[in-house]
Amino acid sequence: MYKVAVVQFEPILFDTEYNLNTILSYIGQADTDLIVFPELATSGYVFDTVDEVATVAESVPDGRCFIAIIEAAQKYNCSVVYGFVEQVGSTFYNSSVLINPDGTYHVYRKVHLFDREKLFFEPGNKGFFVSEAKHGVRVGMMICFDWQFPEAARSLALQNAQIICHPSNLVLPWCQQAMTTRALENRVFCITANRLGTETNGSTTLHFTGQSQILNTTGEVLCRLSVDKPELSIVEIDPTVADVKDINLRNNLFADRRPNSYIKK
Ligand code: ACM
Repeated sequence: MYKVAVVQFEPILFDTEYNLNTILSYIGQADTDLIVFPELATSGYVFDTVDEVATVAESVPDGRCFIAIIEAAQKYNCSVVYGFVEQVGSTFYNSSVLINPDGTYHVYRKVHLFDREKLFFEPGNKGFFVSEAKHGVRVGMMICFDWQFPEAARSLALQNAQIICHPSNLVLPWCQQAMTTRALENRVFCITANRLGTETNGSTTLHFTGQSQILNTTGEVLCRLSVDKPELSIVEIDPTVADVKDINLRNNLFADRRPNSYIKK
């Protein structure tokens, strides 16, 4: 069995020290194989200017938070996924990274930007891909609003993802329910780590919906956290269950696809 953990908390805007220490403290107490944190967990979310984004951005692998978290992943022998502002030259991405205890890491850049994110970030340029986490478990990442596009989770499933890690800062009310369908229609485990609280900057105020969750491959809720409390939950799963795409003797989720009948636009 494989222990997976989901964490929700309220990052403080611009307070990378507090946010990093919170993340490190959860990694230290979790005793798990894989732990997933929210989108932009090191920085907060409601930016007003690109200059503000620049103050909390970091590059990989030389960023301060990245170095501290990779040390923790090694010390506590777990894979970690968290969201952060990634800087590449003068470009910023809303990114997440999978860090493994053996020191390997993989950065995903959010493809589907939500609302004002389009003012600050470039859309991800690496597409959806699957990487190995601890014990060779196959993990794909998508970030928050990517949930709205079934192609995101499907792209990961078609590359044989066993677990979709989904760091989020959700403001719309539908994602937690929609992800049960993403899990079922792809027969993959899904871990949505959502942040909490209300954040205001300039004239923008956003409220985030909590209810982080871990779903099995038929969309059942293995754990769902509260609306408003910082929490960690750990669930034991068998990731190989996601390799079984048979629905019955005559139907297989992938073999029965008919791509020639689908519209390609
Ligand atoms: C979102 O994509 N953070 C709503």
